Parts: sequence; structure tokens; C-alpha cells
Amino acid sequence: MLLLVTGGAGFIGSNFVKHKLENTDDKIIVLDALTYAGVLDNLKPYLNGSNILVPKDQNDLIKVKKRIGKEISYSIDESNELKRLESKLNGFKVNYLESKALKERIKEILKSNRLVFVVGNIIDSELDESLTGLSDVVVHFAAESHVDRSIFSADAFIKTNVYGTYSLLEAARSAHIQKFIHISTDEVYGQASDTPFKETDPLNPRNPYSSTKAAADRMVYAYFQTYNVPVVIARPSNNFGSFQYPEKLIPVMTINALRDESLPVYGDGRQRRDWLYVQDTARAIDLLIEKGRIGEAYNVSGNNEKENIFIVNRILEITQKPETLIKYVKDRPGHDLRYMIDDTKIKSLGWVQDRNFEKQFEDTVRWYMENEDWWEKILKIDEEYKFFMKAWYEKR
Ligand SMILES: NC(=O)c1ccc[n+]([C@@H]2O[C@H](COP(=O)([O-])OP(=O)(O)OC[C@H]3O[C@@H](n4cnc5c(N)ncnc54)[C@H](O)[C@@H]3O)[C@@H](O)[C@H]2O)c1
Repeated sequence: MLLLVTGGAGFIGSNFVKHKLENTDDKIIVLDALTYAGVLDNLKPYLNGSNILVPKDQNDLIKVKKRIGKEISYSIDESNELKRLESKLNGFKVNYLESKALKERIKEILKSNRLVFVVGNIIDSELDESLTGLSDVVVHFAAESHVDRSIFSADAFIKTNVYGTYSLLEAARSAHIQKFIHISTDEVYGQASDTPFKETDPLNPRNPYSSTKAAADRMVYAYFQTYNVPVVIARPSNNFGSFQYPEKLIPVMTINALRDESLPVYGDGRQRRDWLYVQDTARAIDLLIEKGRIGEAYNVSGNNEKENIFIVNRILEITQKPETLIKYVKDRPGHDLRYMIDDTKIKSLGWVQDRNFEKQFEDTVRWYMENEDWWEKILKIDEEYKFFMKAWYEKR
């Protein structure tokens, strides 16, 4: 089987690609724009001199101008954008080529490789058409994924999560794919009370990120109802594991603890999240590729509900750092206090989760402790990360 995996250089996408390459004979084309969150090192063992391709004549890759927040204006001009791309590709042999030569080159490479990495934006409809045209299954992870950033500015979220998903669906419409697996999120339901959400419950997103994900989720469904695109929607809960970009809760707290910096905890830290191990997500998506019913959505729960403050305290215990590092900061506006989903439906397909949360959690924190090179390189080269962390936390 040939899979097109969008967002394959990100956290869940790269774990999924490695899971596939290590456990199946499937071949994979990754399409990833290498935004700040895309890290080529995540797939390093599978990248060689021949399988990273950059179509030369793409527009959207370099045409990113951002205005972040009302008070703070931060523009990434074309040369900065190109600089970022250069730094992302630094150390890898890259093959530049004309877009019209792309399909043939991919076919050639796949004769001797199981992975081809195409640097490109899902908004580019011609690129989407070329790649879906080659593929049996599409697994769509690519997204802007950080809630805090979406509160700062929703621009890129609307562009990628909504318009980008639409572009990909349009391409899928004319391709002969068997399945289009869309990665949605439990956040589309909004804040939970005491009853877990079922797939049939209304969506009620409460922040810009989850609103764009809800829009994409329903657009995917609409393409099934309207055009018969064979879609399956996954709604996983909060993922954790190795290779997660340093801005998210577990890596940011672990890295700050290791650097003896303060650990910024929102509000009273009593917000609850349902933690799902990224390897479990990869296996759940596998199951949906095989058995997910076309046109249906499936919750994927970690069945591990924890308060944020519990997570932070466990990180301090594992890293052997003092509680005095905790700094309570002003809460995120519109913060959902709880997410909770019912996963009976995916269990009825035969889904069995690995239930060893404590071990998975400790392995994850230790991975960040043992892989300083990975996150130090990101922290060193990513100007956007430095800017964002400073601007977001400085005034809290
Ligand atoms: N992380 C979680 O806890 C979680 C939970 C549920 C659902 N999800 C969903 O899973 C998916 C993956 O999440 P993640 O945490 O791995 O995200 P991530 O931010 O780590 O990775 C996103 C990837 O998408 C790429 N990308 C972004 N915009 C792009 C564009 N326009 N064109 C092509 N590539 C682009 C980035 O370069 C990056 O490699 C997302 O759709 C997210 O909404 C995440």
C-alpha cells in the first residue's frame, strides 16, 4: 500500500510514519511544509541522499507573512521564511526539481526506498493532486496545532487547518484513493462536564485552534456526504510521547526543569486532560485504515485523565528538581477545564489500548532527559519559538 501522510515531520505524524515503516511493508510519501513544528531529524534514520524532494516552483512555501496579536507585530518576510527553510534542511541532502517532474521522480525513488519526503504545503492544490493521484490512502495530520499560538493569531490556523484541508479534499475527490483518514481532535467537542462525549454529540469548540479543527472535521464529513470521498475521522485525545515539539506541556515542563528555569502553570493547574500515548494513536490509525467505516468518526481516548498539576509534579519527581520551580501564571483565556470522550465505538472494531500509563509517561520524560541534542538544536535555531515563548509568557 502507498500512503500519503501529511504533516509527517511533526510529532504524531513522524511517530506514525516510523511505526508504519517498522511494522509493515507499506510505502509512504510525506508531504510537510516544515513549518516551525516540522523537524526533519524526527525521520533521520529513513532519509538519505535521494529521498528528500523540494519542488522549485511552489508559491505558498515562501509566501508566509504573519501578524501576531494586536500589540505585537512580527512579520516573517520572504527572506526570513527562506532562511528558516534553509536551516530546517541544513545537514540533509535535498533534491530540487520542477513540479512537473515530481510524480515520475517519486515513482523512481519508491523502487528502492520506502519513504519519499516532499517539502511542500497542503494549500498547494497542484501538489496535492499529484500526490493523491499516486496514493492508495491519505492520512492527514498536517495542521497548526498549538492552542496558545491560535489565541495569539488564528491566521495560519485558518489557512492550514481549514483551507489546507479543503485543498487536500478537492484533490482526493478526483483521485482513486481507498481511504482518507482525517486526524481531528477531542477538542472539537469543547469543554466536558461529567459525561464523556460520544461521536454523535454536537461539536462546540471554544478556542481558535479547536474551531478550525471542527471546521475541517465537518468539511471532511461534507466531502463524504456530497462527493463520496471515502473519509474516516479520528478524534484522539491529548497525545504524549517522544519527538513532541518543545512548546507543549510535557516537553516544555521537562525542558524547563532540566534547565532550572521556572515551570509556568496556568491558573491553579487543576485543568484535566486525557493522555493518550502516541504509539497507541499510531496503532489506532492503523486500525481505522483497515476497519474504520467510511463516513464515520471515531473517538480515541487515552482513558488516563490527569490534572495538569499532577503531570508537572511527576515531571519534577522524575527529573529530581524542586517544586519551587513551579510558577503559577495567568490562565489561558477560554481554557477548557476538561476533555472527556467515550471510546466504545473504536473498541467495537477491536481496539485494545496499551494501558501502562505510568511507564509510558516515565519513558517519555526520560526520552527528553536523554535527548538534549534533539531539543537543544530546535531551541537554538528556532527564532519563532524564542519569540513566541517570550511574548506569550513574559506578561503572564
Ligand atoms: N498533539 C496532540 O495532542 C493532538 C491530539 C489530537 C489531535 N491532534 C491532531 O493531530 C495532528 C498532528 O498533531 P501534532 O501534535 O503532531 O502537530 P505538530 O504541530 O507537531 O506537527 C504538525 C506538522 O504539520 C506540518 N504542517 C503544518 N502546516 C502545514 C501545511 N500548511 N502544509 C504541510 N505541512 C504542514 C508541520 O510542518 C508539522 O510537521 C494535527 O492535526 C492535530 O490537530 C493532535
